[in-house]
Amino acid sequence: MPEDLPDYALTAREHWTRSNAEYTNARARQRWAQEHIHWGVWKNPESELRILPDLRGLEVIELGCGTAYFGAWLKKHGAARVVGVDITPAQLETARAMNEEFGLGLEFIEANAEDVPLSDGSFDLAFSEYGASIWCDPFKWIPEAARLLRPAGELVFMCNTDLVQVCSPDKERVSERLVLPLRGMHRLDWTSEGASTEFHIPTGTCSGCCGVLASRSSTAGSCTRARTPWTTPTTPTCRRSGPESGPPRRSGGPGRLSGSPGRMA
Ligand SMILES: C[S@@+](CC[C@H](N)C(=O)[O-])C[C@H]1O[C@@H](n2cnc3c(N)ncnc32)[C@H](O)[C@@H]1O
Repeated sequence: MPEDLPDYALTAREHWTRSNAEYTNARARQRWAQEHIHWGVWKNPESELRILPDLRGLEVIELGCGTAYFGAWLKKHGAARVVGVDITPAQLETARAMNEEFGLGLEFIEANAEDVPLSDGSFDLAFSEYGASIWCDPFKWIPEAARLLRPAGELVFMCNTDLVQVCSPDKERVSERLVLPLRGMHRLDWTSEGASTEFHIPTGTCSGCCGVLASRSSTAGSCTRARTPWTTPTTPTCRRSGPESGPPRRSGGPGRLSGSPGRMA
């Protein structure tokens, strides 16, 4: 059990303990059974978007893995090792039960994704689908992901778009009105479905954050996001630079919006 958790990690754990009892546990088996990878609430297929690197042989860490269905998909698509990190015991209990049932050999750690008890440079791919990418402070979890990556490792994550966040009042899900300022956006404290805190920083700031990361690595950094105008910036990929890293591998897929139009809760 991690000690000294920030207030938002404690409320997140309460939130996801409730959500596990209400729906995530019940939905887990169907998701684990799925063979293809899809993204976001519109379920856009990875086979069209091609956001992920070739997974064959990669060692992957999923930050905020939840019931770990996405980690299961990564393993089915060739990852050599998938380690799921989550702060909520109930979510990990479901993940472990599914892992046992499906025999995929994932590993799980109960920890804060901002402070993972694993060695530097242990993974080829750090990943988050609405996990740390929403529930953790980006100025903490993104540097932590960088620490965990090997040179030339990649960070791929999915979160909400700027537009969704500025149109999200506390009392409803997403409105048609701009209700929050984007400038300076960072911590969002919600009250309507019980206390919970999410994080969102504007896309430009996020690019800067990833850039700082890259420049902290041992050689000159590189960071990229999908560049085609129809490809959402909510699934950025950042590559930790190293001696062997060439130009970024993915710079836009065939082009379908993969962002979420609604807050994940
Ligand atoms: C939307 S779920 C992730 C869904 C996931 N992609 C899956 O396959 O089930 C968000 C998860 O983030 C976890 N989480 C929230 N704050 C966290 C933190 N500080 N460290 C680690 N996990 C955290 C929650 O416990 C929850 O299980």
